[in-house]
Amino acid sequence: MKSDPRFPNLHILDHPLIQHKLSHMRDRDTSTRTFRELLREITLLMGYEITRNLPLTTVRITTPLQDIDAPVIAGKKLVVVPVLRAGIGMSDGLLELVPSARVGHIGVYRDPATHRPVEYLVRLPDVTDRIFILCDPMLATGNSAVHAVDVLRKRGVAPSQIFFLALVAAPEGVQVFQDAHPDVAVYVASLDSHLNDHAYIIPGLGDAGDRLFGTK
Ligand code: URA
Repeated sequence: MKSDPRFPNLHILDHPLIQHKLSHMRDRDTSTRTFRELLREITLLMGYEITRNLPLTTVRITTPLQDIDAPVIAGKKLVVVPVLRAGIGMSDGLLELVPSARVGHIGVYRDPATHRPVEYLVRLPDVTDRIFILCDPMLATGNSAVHAVDVLRKRGVAPSQIFFLALVAAPEGVQVFQDAHPDVAVYVASLDSHLNDHAYIIPGLGDAGDRLFGTK
């Protein structure tokens, strides 16, 4: 795991398998089907890392040989929240890892003129005492990410209970996110170079939603 001195809460998961799969995702000739599979696979690997410090408790079980206090994840079920629509490609992977997680949805689209987020849907389970994993592959301007965390914070979720999971981030977006939510941890596979004039990440991988769903 790498860090960047500019962004204390940014964790760059640079595992060789993640980097390898991301390179294939970036390739413009990669098919929709392969792109989707790779996003799910990378999310599994990233999810494995970000759940590393989940609190544990024990339950008494009986193996065929003896009774033991066996470790299990403590507390209420996790909540996975994809930011629609591209976040769905990541929540699928996370749910394979944590099949009993609850699932919320936050629908935000980017106004093409202002690049500001416009919310069109919020559905969340009861938030009390739960850990949230928000996911959206591209942390570009940071505006949608900030908005999604705002939604959770307004419902009373503490910053320490929120993880933001993205695939590729731009420094500009990470800065915006950090200024708004300095206590929320962000996990990415790559911190790319910059945003272009249309707020696309360079080198990036193009429009993640279009590539995931085969739309234009
Ligand atoms: N959203 C995307 O899908 N790609 C980008 O590069 C930026 C925002």
